Amino acid sequence: MDSLLITGGRSLKGEIAISGAKNAALPLLCAALLTRDVLTLTHVPHLNDIGTMLKLLAQMGVKVQRTAGDLMGSGDVVTLDASGLDSVVAPYEMVKTMRAAILVLGPLVARAGEARVSLPGGCAIGARPVDQHIKGLLAMGAEVAVEHGYVHAQSPRLKGARLFTDMVTVTGTENLMMAACLADGETVIENAAREPEVVDLANCLVAMGARISGAGTDVIRIQGVSSLHGATHRVMPDRIETGTYLCAAAASGGEIRLTDTSSAYLDAVIDKLMDAGCDITMERDAIRLKAPERLTAVSIRTSPYPAFPTDMQAQFMAINAVANGTSVIRETIFENRFMHAVELTRLGADIRIDGNTAVVNGKRKLDGAIVMATDLRASAGLVIAGLVAEGETRIERIYHLDRGYDGLERKLAALGADVRREK
Ligand code: EPZ
Repeated sequence: MDSLLITGGRSLKGEIAISGAKNAALPLLCAALLTRDVLTLTHVPHLNDIGTMLKLLAQMGVKVQRTAGDLMGSGDVVTLDASGLDSVVAPYEMVKTMRAAILVLGPLVARAGEARVSLPGGCAIGARPVDQHIKGLLAMGAEVAVEHGYVHAQSPRLKGARLFTDMVTVTGTENLMMAACLADGETVIENAAREPEVVDLANCLVAMGARISGAGTDVIRIQGVSSLHGATHRVMPDRIETGTYLCAAAASGGEIRLTDTSSAYLDAVIDKLMDAGCDITMERDAIRLKAPERLTAVSIRTSPYPAFPTDMQAQFMAINAVANGTSVIRETIFENRFMHAVELTRLGADIRIDGNTAVVNGKRKLDGAIVMATDLRASAGLVIAGLVAEGETRIERIYHLDRGYDGLERKLAALGADVRREK
């Protein structure tokens, strides 16, 4: 298992390009199942989760090709041809490492009339059930059985229906939107997720011939069509990667410029960074941040988009750990997403957890130590803390980071950080 060694104390300065969004690319790859034509995706981030999804699709008979872009962040070009689809099974050994594999469920039932997808099982941050995905497919007329750890769904042709999810679910919305594209009649998804990645998927599906309106609002309407055709689609920029580097620069007293990204999807995060004392200027497809001498602590409460994203919570706990003042962090989406707190405490942070609330008393400095990554965004929080801690911090099990951050140490080094990977 690789570790990351960081010697803290340097301010981040310079400019890097942001990669394509992991959480947009993953459902986009699954959209290829909906057509016999070729789907081409550009600006695809070079990440382990993408590789896992491509492996899963390939073993279903999808012809996949990934050509690496150049290093300067233009991302990979991926072509997918599902005309030879010959399996509807997503096996446990593939799904257990990446719960986003559940996103093949809707497209498979819509395209092939059947799907047998392993239940994702929980992960470090929570149980993460898929009951809403199943509820929606049942409402569209599918027969669904959950047995031996698999969801087995069948339907000769799904019927349009009015769907209401009990809570806002991003991949639930995406799965049901994809399934509805080929259903007979109109589907309305109420209480739909409004995340930009849902909009990016809808834009690609429309380019493939789907009839979708309302993506980005909490009511999405889909008129089913008989088939979809191929398309070429550029993956949107990764707003969480953008937010992560903004936090790293903010905590280290730096000044950076991020290109190939947009501030359009980060209002809640940018708002909080301004409250913390950062000077932020937005350009058309770039963001500039100049940090204050020391940050002011800011309280946050995670909530579905457009409110503060849960995927930025760990990063803000890290910057609050060294900010001036006390902050309160409330996590309302996942039931166990504070594992980074105990690791930050090893670096000297003063954090008290009470259920889904963390109280952070900012300290002038942290001290480098050995810490362990537990999940993707928790490890991002540890990297930020390591950048500001005095001395050396070793982050173990950084395969979590490799799942969601394309070229992390290359980009941090380009911004002047003292960071290296140890095999
Ligand atoms: C997506 O996960 C993201 N993953 C997550 O990013 C992100 O944290 C999450 O949305 C919230 O924004 C991808 O897009 C691939 P949910 P998802 O369904 O769709 C409960 C990262 O770091 N729920 O919106 O799995 C669920 O337990 C990852 O990139 C049900 O109870 O999250 C959670 O408490 C981590 N039943 C809440 O809803 C369901 O059927 C929101 O989950 C579905 C969800």
